[in-house]
Amino acid sequence: MLPLDNVFYLIIIYNIVDWGVVYIKASVIFHSVSGNTYLLAKELYDSLTFYDIKASIFRVEDDDLDNFYTKYDTVKEFYSEIKSIKIAKPDFLLDSDIIFFGSPTYFGNISSEMKAFMDSTGDFWPEARLKGKYIVPFTTAGTCEGGGHLCLNSINIYGFHMGMIPISLPMDILQGQLPSYGIISYSGDEGNIRPDEKTKMNIKKFVKYITEIL
Ligand SMILES: Cc1cc2nc3c(=O)[nH]c(=O)nc-3n(C[C@H](O)[C@H](O)[C@H](O)COP(=O)(O)O)c2cc1C
Repeated sequence: MLPLDNVFYLIIIYNIVDWGVVYIKASVIFHSVSGNTYLLAKELYDSLTFYDIKASIFRVEDDDLDNFYTKYDTVKEFYSEIKSIKIAKPDFLLDSDIIFFGSPTYFGNISSEMKAFMDSTGDFWPEARLKGKYIVPFTTAGTCEGGGHLCLNSINIYGFHMGMIPISLPMDILQGQLPSYGIISYSGDEGNIRPDEKTKMNIKKFVKYITEIL
């Protein structure tokens, strides 16, 4: 009979190794009201799954989804899809090797809802429980002058405080079609320009690159 300690280790090994393949575990955490950031999150989730990364997707809670659902068509369009996604809890981060954080750009920064979620992980900070995990930011912003890059950097700054490792977007793969700081898509003055095929293709290329370096 195996000693209990050995059984415990066998269970752990069984969970991370599936027929000789070691899986990377990813979480995609997003905040979205009118669907644009959700669409990037979904594309990331689909690409991660496509490349055999064990991915989970979670949303940050926001009452505005219900408040604006009848008021704006952009909110209505993906309301049910967004609502069907599980709400993020800090503990979910502990089980991930790489975490993608997506927030709409609000006033050149992350949204207060995403910030509230990040603040709720404050308990992890003193013991650096997220250290060594990878972080990738993504955002959607109205216009390219609207501070989307600052939003991406705010997410990375959270990662630095947590001891996380940022993954930048290399020039040779994406030819400057996305900034080095993270993934971004511009939704226009009305917020109704959805992420285009080129952005989706770039997300796929970027995720493929991630599988090669991790
Ligand atoms: C409160 C608020 C503040 C915003 N601030 C900015 C901004 O500073 N710069 C910008 O380019 N767009 C700004 N926008 C536009 C959103 O970033 C954009 O519509 C985004 O795609 C919304 O994301 P979502 O569809 O995932 O909710 C703002 C929108 C709201 C509601």
